[in-house]
Amino acid sequence: MKKFIQNLPKAELHLHIEGTLEPELMFKLAQKNEIALPYASIQEVREAYNFNSLQSFLDLYYAGASVLVEEIDFFDLTWAYLQKCKVQNILHVEIFFDPQTHTKRGIAFGVVVRGIVKALQKAKKELGISSFLIMCFLRHLSEKEAYETLKESLPFKHHIIGVGLDSSEVGHPPSKFERVFKRARQEGYKIVAHAGEEGDSSYIWEAIKLLHVNRIDHGIRCDEDATLVDFLIEKQLALTVCPLSNVKLCAVDEMKNHNILKLLHQGVLVTVNSDDPAYFGGYLNENYLALAHDLGASKHDLVALAKNSFKASFLSEEEKEKYL
Ligand code: ADE
Ligand code: ZN
Repeated sequence: MKKFIQNLPKAELHLHIEGTLEPELMFKLAQKNEIALPYASIQEVREAYNFNSLQSFLDLYYAGASVLVEEIDFFDLTWAYLQKCKVQNILHVEIFFDPQTHTKRGIAFGVVVRGIVKALQKAKKELGISSFLIMCFLRHLSEKEAYETLKESLPFKHHIIGVGLDSSEVGHPPSKFERVFKRARQEGYKIVAHAGEEGDSSYIWEAIKLLHVNRIDHGIRCDEDATLVDFLIEKQLALTVCPLSNVKLCAVDEMKNHNILKLLHQGVLVTVNSDDPAYFGGYLNENYLALAHDLGASKHDLVALAKNSFKASFLSEEEKEKYL
C-alpha cells in the first residue's frame, strides 16, 4: 500500500508553508537570526507537540514562525517542502502563507513573497512541480488589518492566486470578513476559507453564502447538516480535508471515526492534505496511508481521492485533463 500511495500522482491543496518548519530548521534559523526559542533542544520541541485543540497548536505555530526573518529563510523553508513533494510524487501544490504572522513582526510583505516565489519557480524548473500561492488572513485579527493586508498584496497580485481565512475559528466567523472578501473577489482573487474544522456547520454556510468560496478548507463538520452535504454534492464544492491534523488537534477523536471516506462515498468532492506536516507527524503520503490503515480505504478510494485533488485545484480545465 505504501508503494501504491507513493506512486499515485497527487496534488496538495491545503498546506501552510509555516507549518512545514521542521524543528531542525527552526533551531538553525533561530541561531542565525538570534531569536530566542523556549526550547533547549530539538527533542524538546517535538515533545511540546502534544495538542488538545486548534488554539494549543496555533500558540506554538506562531512562536515557531518567529525565526523566519530574511528572504532566504522563506526560500529555504519552501524549498525544503518542495523537495519533500518530489519525494512523495506530489505534482502540483497550492500553498498558503500567513502574511500577518510576519508583517506584524516588522518583516516586509515583499520579503516573504519573494522568498517563497523564488523556491516555487526553482521547483517548476528543476523538479517539474507546478504551484499556486494563496495568502490567508488571520481571523483572530481585525477586519481593518485584513484590509491593510489585502492592500499590501496588490503589488504582488501576479504571484498570488487567491485569498484564504485561517487561525482561531470559533468566535471569528466568516461574516466578520464579508466586506474584505468582497473586495478580494473584485481584485480577481479566488476565495477559500477554513470552516467547519472546530466551528459548527454554520461557519461553512457563512463561508459559502457570504464569502462565496471556491473551496472549503477542512469542512468536516458539514455532516451535522444533511442539507449542507446535499449542497456540497450538488455544487461539487470541494473540501480540503486534513486527516492527521484533525486527529492531532482533537477535532476528531480517533482516525477510525474520521468521516472523509463516508463523505467521499456520498459524492462530496473531498481531498486529502497535510495542513501543517512538521507539527502533525506526517506529510501527504502519511495522510493517505493513515486512511488505508485506520479507515480501511481501498486502492479505489485512494485513486478517487488523488483524482479529486486535481479536480478541486485551481489548474485550468486543460491542465487538469492531464491528470484525470
Ligand atoms: N493555521 C495553520 N494551520 C491551521 C489550521 N489547521 N486551522 C486554522 N488555522 C491554521
Ligand atoms: Zn489549515
